[in-house]
Amino acid sequence: MTKPVLFSGMQPSNDSLHLGNFVGALQQWVALQAEYDAYYCVVDLHALTSSPNPEELRARTRSTAAQYMAAGIDASQSTLYVQSHVPAHAQLSWVLNNITGFGEAGRMTQFKDKSARFGADSTTVGLFTYPVLMAADILLYQTRAVPVGEDQRQHLELTRDLAGRFNSRFGDTFTVPEPVILKETAKIYDLQHPGSKMSKSAESEAGLIKVLDDPKVNAKKIMRAVTDDEASIRFDREAKPGISNLLTIFSAMSGWTIDAIVDEYQGRGYGDLKKGVVDAVTAVFEPVRTRTLELLDDPAELDRLLAQNAAKANEVAEKTLALAYERVGL
Ligand code: ADP
Ligand code: NA
Repeated sequence: MTKPVLFSGMQPSNDSLHLGNFVGALQQWVALQAEYDAYYCVVDLHALTSSPNPEELRARTRSTAAQYMAAGIDASQSTLYVQSHVPAHAQLSWVLNNITGFGEAGRMTQFKDKSARFGADSTTVGLFTYPVLMAADILLYQTRAVPVGEDQRQHLELTRDLAGRFNSRFGDTFTVPEPVILKETAKIYDLQHPGSKMSKSAESEAGLIKVLDDPKVNAKKIMRAVTDDEASIRFDREAKPGISNLLTIFSAMSGWTIDAIVDEYQGRGYGDLKKGVVDAVTAVFEPVRTRTLELLDDPAELDRLLAQNAAKANEVAEKTLALAYERVGL
C-alpha cells in the first residue's frame, strides 16, 4: 500500500534552528514520517529572496539538513534533500508563473508586509514570485498533505488554485494538496514577549532559544523568561501568556500533557517550573546538538546522504515536470 505524499520545507536562514522551528516544524515532521511518504526540503532557492552571503548560505544549508537528521528525520525513510539539487523546482515554477495573475500574487499578505518593510527599490521579483516557487515545490511530488502554520495558509491556498487551474486548462496533471492543521500548542512564543511568536527576526536574542546554543546560555534565558505576579501555575494564554508558553515548551519537550505538568507543579514557585523547563529542553537539545556537530564534522558523508536523497527526489520531480511540459506544449 502506498502512503500519501507529504511535503514540507524550511529555509536555511540561520546557523541554528530555534525552539519554535523545532516544536512547530521538526517535531511534527518526525511524527508524520511513518504515516506519509514525506519530502522534507531545505529550501535554499527560497532563501535567495533575503540576499544572503553566499558562504553563509552554503554553510546554513548543510547545518539545517544536519539538524533535521539529528532531530530524527530518517533519510532512509523520508526524502531529505536540498531544493537547488532538484532543478525541476525552478523549472516548474516558471511554467506556473505563466498561469498566476499579477494581481493574485500581489494579494499575498506576506509579500505585501515584506515589500512595505523593504520599500519598492529593495523589493525583488524573487520575493514577489516566492509563493509560485512554493507551489512548484509542492506540486512536483503529487503531494496530498502539507503541514502549514497560519503564516503559510494563504500560500497553500494559492497552490491549490494553481493546481486546479492548470488541471482544468491542460488536463489532469497535479494532485490538489490539503493542509495538515497543526495543534495550537505547536506554537511557541518569545520568552521576553510572550504575545509574539518566537522568531529568528526577534528584536532581541533574550527571548530566543536556539537548538545549537550552549545549554548554559539557553538555561539562563529560560530562568529569565517573563512571567506574571500571580504566583499560580495554570494554562491561560490570555491572562498568563508567559507561564502558558513555558508550559507549552515543557510539554513539547517532555511528552507530558500540560495538565500533568500543572498537577505536578501545583503550589510550587515559578523558579521551580523554570528549572523543570530547563531540564526538559536540555534533555532534548543536548543529543540533537551533539549529533548535529558530528554530522557537520564529516561533510563528505553528509553530502553523500543529501546527494542520495536528491536523486530520489529528482526521479519523482522529473516525471511530473515532463508531464507538465508536455501538457503546455514544451
Ligand atoms: P521564523 O518565524 O523564525 O522566520 P520560519 O518562518 O523560517 O521561522 O519558520 C520555519 C518553520 O518553523 C515554519 O514551519 C514555521 O511554521 C515554524 N515556526 C517558526 N516559528 C515558530 C514558532 N514560534 N512556533 C511554532 N512554529 C514556528
Ligand atoms: Na516566518
